[in-house]
Amino acid sequence: MKILVTGGAGFIGSHTVIKLIESGHDVVIVDNLSNANPKVLDRIAQLSGVKPAFAEVDIRDREGLTKVCEQAAADGRGFDACIHFAGLKAVGESVAKPWEYYENNIGGTLTLLDVLRRHGCKNIIFSSSATVYGDPAVIPITEECPKGHCTNPYGQTKSMLEEIMMDMQKADPEWNIVLLRYFNPIGAHPSGLIGEDPNGIPNNLMPYITQVAVGKLAELGVFGDDYDTPDGTGVRDYIHVEDLAEGHVKALQAIESNCGLAVYNLGTGTGYSVLDVVKAFEKATGVAIPYSIKPRRAGDIAACYSDPAKAEAELGWKARYGIEDMCRDAWNWQSNNPDGYGE
Ligand code: NAD
Ligand code: UFG
Repeated sequence: MKILVTGGAGFIGSHTVIKLIESGHDVVIVDNLSNANPKVLDRIAQLSGVKPAFAEVDIRDREGLTKVCEQAAADGRGFDACIHFAGLKAVGESVAKPWEYYENNIGGTLTLLDVLRRHGCKNIIFSSSATVYGDPAVIPITEECPKGHCTNPYGQTKSMLEEIMMDMQKADPEWNIVLLRYFNPIGAHPSGLIGEDPNGIPNNLMPYITQVAVGKLAELGVFGDDYDTPDGTGVRDYIHVEDLAEGHVKALQAIESNCGLAVYNLGTGTGYSVLDVVKAFEKATGVAIPYSIKPRRAGDIAACYSDPAKAEAELGWKARYGIEDMCRDAWNWQSNNPDGYGE
């Protein structure tokens, strides 16, 4: 298939682009590089043997997106599908800058959807998030679990975009829309050549741990040890980014079989606490992670993990990597690239 990948220079997008190329798909990346480094394109080429077409375009730029679609058609074939990763994703920043998040994520996606349909492409896979379940009513979380209240604008954009796309698919059944609700993606390509490169001090657990391990940060703060979980620290469903990337390749099958609207959780089904992750990291890498217990972080929930059975039954997709693999590969990336893609 010929696939437009928005946000394809980012963390999950870059890993997915490699899998798409390896599966024989033709990829065009659109990214405004607001949270990515163009060096990733060379690394993708090094790993896959193909340098994907790239356009530095913002998804809010209707003219720019139109040109990309026209160019694809002029090259012989319009896009068969879009995999839509582009978006701002920092939870804390979204609380401080709600307008910017709504405008970028919702405004950008509305423009993208319109340009796609005007060019005859009504197939899209969207990066949603387990955050749409809020504080989940049922654990493990199935896709039937009702959506919950999102405590921040970032989460609201995911939840609202899901509703917008569901309404569009209802009104025009020619659309095939796959909403993938990711749990907690971590890890990196096993080569150590591509990985997660957050700006400034990381907000998320794994990049924080790897920066402690590499000596850039002194110690990990564990946000709360008084949750109703086995050791009192927060429990999440960490998933290797390689497995997540593979999930997108499998989701294309749903598109090909005219799925209409389909929703899948992408997780492993296993929850690990913050202290479990610290222990797994130390075991996998031999590097000690000093930590201290801090107060709870506002907006956090106690536990969140998936029931991934639907994706296995319908897409034949199942996570293959375990927590120690995720830690090993995250560390391999960080230790080989202490400053990420920077100098
Ligand atoms: P990322 O920031 O590494 O990738 C997003 C990419 O989109 C970046 O390369 C950025 O430059 C680009 N981008 C942002 N706004 C854009 C715009 N207006 N026009 C064009 N490009 C734009 O993030 P990621 O971790 O790879 O996440 C990918 C997607 O998955 C995002 O939509 C994110 O919300 C979603 N998601 C991520 C997680 C996670 O924990 N990483 C969890 C659930 C869902
Ligand atoms: N944590 C710490 N210390 C840190 C960072 C995190 O103890 O320095 C804890 C958190 O309290 C939580 C767990 O580690 O219990 C995981 O936190 P992350 O910030 O890594 O991930 P979240 O589950 O909070 O959120 C992530 C993404 C969201 C996404 C959600 C569900 O950041 O965008 O997963 O997919 F919506």
